[in-house]
Amino acid sequence: MPWNPEQYHKFRAQRAAPFEDLVKLIRVRPGMRAIDLGCGTGELTARLADLLPDSDVLGLDSSAEMLGRAEAFVRPGLRFEQGTIESVAGEWDLIFSHAALQWVDDHQTLISRLFGLLKPGGQLVVQMPSNHTHYSHQVVRELAAQEPFATALGGWSRSAPVLPIDAYAELLFACGGEDITVFEKIYPHILPDADAIAEWTSGTLLVPYMERLPSALHAAFMDAYRTRLRARWPQGPVFYGFRRTLFAAIAPQGE
Ligand SMILES: C[S@@+](CC[C@H](N)C(=O)[O-])C[C@H]1O[C@@H](n2cnc3c(N)ncnc32)[C@H](O)[C@@H]1O
Repeated sequence: MPWNPEQYHKFRAQRAAPFEDLVKLIRVRPGMRAIDLGCGTGELTARLADLLPDSDVLGLDSSAEMLGRAEAFVRPGLRFEQGTIESVAGEWDLIFSHAALQWVDDHQTLISRLFGLLKPGGQLVVQMPSNHTHYSHQVVRELAAQEPFATALGGWSRSAPVLPIDAYAELLFACGGEDITVFEKIYPHILPDADAIAEWTSGTLLVPYMERLPSALHAAFMDAYRTRLRARWPQGPVFYGFRRTLFAAIAPQGE
């Protein structure tokens, strides 16, 4: 099961709140060359481009399904390309990423590499979920370790590469970053019931599990997941406190 724009957009209103916090960290200058890594359906890339006067904005994503939606937003100064975050190159005034870098491993290497792609005075601005200790995530890893799923997954499960926030602050400093901002925030979501959490995670967290599991096991996995979530939250509404890491830093101007 690849990325599904319909499923992802079911919680688009909730996902807009961290975007609003993130864009406040941007030092806007006219005529920026900007890239949005893991741009998804392009909706937020278009909003980003609206905030950057006379800029050239590129949305990059590996998913053809997500990019299929992004085509509707193409206009002068805004374009999209299929490609991976791991192989991004070029020189940028702004490297922006909203809810995508958590899919790439080894953040020490990744953040240093991205920082190295900034022009002098350029800015790296990132938001990613750091919710991996939440029960909704723990249960997925537990189920993946149980049969019949463990055999079907070949023992695979996903451990989040997202680091504690102080590690990002130190890393950005080690890269030569200036005007460093790093913080974590819990975004409060009130969902009708436990099943709504499963609905949410099926648009993101569960994607790589469903990609690897044979389709004959999809329903059994989701049933087992919902059963665990319902036992934890037998009644609605359910408070889903979603933790996210946000950071920004500027590359030195040079001599
Ligand atoms: C949770 S969505 C975020 C989309 C958009 N930035 C937003 O906030 O609405 C994550 C996106 O990252 C993309 N993605 C995941 N791993 C990637 C990689 N290694 N290279 C490029 N894109 C990737 C997925 O295809 C997906 O569209």
